[in-house]
Amino acid sequence: MGQQSERSVSVIVKDPQDCTEAEISKFAELVQLGGEVKREGFKDLIRSAKSLIWLQIDGKTAGVAGLKHPRKQYRQRVFANAKAEFPSDQYPFELGWVYVDESYRGKKYSRHLIENALKSASGKSVYATSRTDQAAMHRTLKRYEFQKEGKPWTSGRDPEIELLLFVREAKLLFG
Ligand SMILES: CC(C)(COP(=O)(O)OP(=O)(O)OC[C@H]1O[C@@H](n2cnc3c(N)ncnc32)[C@H](O)[C@@H]1OP(=O)(O)O)[C@@H](O)C(=O)NCCC(=O)NCCS
Repeated sequence: MGQQSERSVSVIVKDPQDCTEAEISKFAELVQLGGEVKREGFKDLIRSAKSLIWLQIDGKTAGVAGLKHPRKQYRQRVFANAKAEFPSDQYPFELGWVYVDESYRGKKYSRHLIENALKSASGKSVYATSRTDQAAMHRTLKRYEFQKEGKPWTSGRDPEIELLLFVREAKLLFG
């Protein structure tokens, strides 16, 4: 691991209700750097998440992720768009807003974010959507036992963006 093992890596997991306004703004800013389209109500969506995860490397924020708590209608629309066979009701959480700063990419740091986001789901089923061109994210999702479900569809917000649905089944937790 070379350089990575010498770095000080830590993860902060927070309920958005415990975040300051500045933290919510910083989180939104980083997610938008990752390609999320700026839109009205975005910060409210962040505030409604189950948890926000921050990756700190050598004291700097190097990445973020969120375990979202999407509204029922939104989930239904995503699963319908994907023509998914699995019912959306079985997936209460969505993994998303995964972003690692460009200077830290390709060093497996995203695993810290994903593992902590999935811990927050307490074993419940989780889904994620990802653009068809996000190869690194697809690899990451596969590593954490997400499977592609349904078919790609075109984003309603940007016709140039094609999305895919991934689902991860509930895990039985022991101990
Ligand atoms: C997706 C993202 C978070 C991955 O972070 P990262 O820390 O660089 O990823 P990792 O180093 O952990 O690599 C993840 C996997 O993708 C692979 N990978 C990395 N870069 C890749 C690339 N450009 N193309 C294909 N695969 C790639 C790695 O080999 C690794 O595979 P493995 O787990 O089988 O070994 C980061 O690229 C990013 O922030 N991208 C922009 C925002 C984004 O696309 N977010 C996803 C929103 S759903």
